[in-house]
Amino acid sequence: MQTLIQSLPKAELHLHIEGTLEPELMFQLAQRNGITLPYDSVEALRAAYDFDNLQSFLDLYYQGADVLRTEQDFFDLTWAYLSRCAEQNVVHTEIFFDPQTHTERGIPFETAINGIHAALEAGRRELGISSYLILCFLRHLSEQSAFDTLAQAEPHRDKIIGIGLDSSELGHPPSKFERVFAAARRQGFELVAHAGEEGPASYIWEALERLQVARIDHGVRCQEDPELVAELARRQVPLTVCPLSNLKLKVVEDLKDHNLAWLLAQDLLVTVNADDPAYFGGYLLENFTACVEALALNRDQVRQLAANGFKASFLPPQEKARWLTVVAATD
Ligand code: ADE
Ligand code: ZN
Repeated sequence: MQTLIQSLPKAELHLHIEGTLEPELMFQLAQRNGITLPYDSVEALRAAYDFDNLQSFLDLYYQGADVLRTEQDFFDLTWAYLSRCAEQNVVHTEIFFDPQTHTERGIPFETAINGIHAALEAGRRELGISSYLILCFLRHLSEQSAFDTLAQAEPHRDKIIGIGLDSSELGHPPSKFERVFAAARRQGFELVAHAGEEGPASYIWEALERLQVARIDHGVRCQEDPELVAELARRQVPLTVCPLSNLKLKVVEDLKDHNLAWLLAQDLLVTVNADDPAYFGGYLLENFTACVEALALNRDQVRQLAANGFKASFLPPQEKARWLTVVAATD
């Protein structure tokens, strides 16, 4: 089974690039930029990765991102992630970045996007990994801040495929961003949103109907609304599920309780993803492995999950078809 998981070509659709900042790199960048971290060592920092919920994680995640100051820092961060992809046979990735996390602390939008984009181009050339970039609005900030961010993205339109929505979910429903998502849609962006991670099933409905997203990030709480599950299945709306993230943020108490296999059985287009691997203890391969162990997934289910990653991607139809053929032929 481990060989199958490794040899399957895989696509990743829910990955925050700032969430790939490993403690070792965080210390390296802190030193390079003359920043003192509030931890003595890599081990002390890792030991702090013990979360009660989404917010307790986000507090550390935004603090960690403060070491990212220069274009080179963003390049190094992204390159380190792509190197992991190459090791794990992740051949396509659609990554999120949170520009407001950087612009709010005085780092120009250009610095972040140019560093990330240059690494993605290098990954394409040197590692053969295809990729797209999705800009996420931070939902705990205002609608106006999201509009300002969308305006900053305009000169970089060619580097960004889509717009997403992340950060603290509870109290910040998708409807808060209805107008700015409508503007993004008019500009031709693909749309996705985090919904139903900690928030209720009604947030998933809002993301579908008011934001008109093509995919739901997480979405695991759809199970609480049978009508919603039926609609997601009927429309084959992809859910980008992040099992180790759900475990570490206590969305589920035990991975054995995760509804991934149940969602698959309902004929939903479910995918497996890493979310913030440096904080949650594993990249895409480790997420697959942990699910196989906890949920006793069989080889067909694993192949289905890998295939779903490509089906749910924003790749052109002929690229999807090419990878689906490879997935079907992998054993
Ligand atoms: N930002 C980074 N990871 C996130 C998650 N799992 N949910 C919401 N916002 C995030
Ligand atoms: Zn996420």
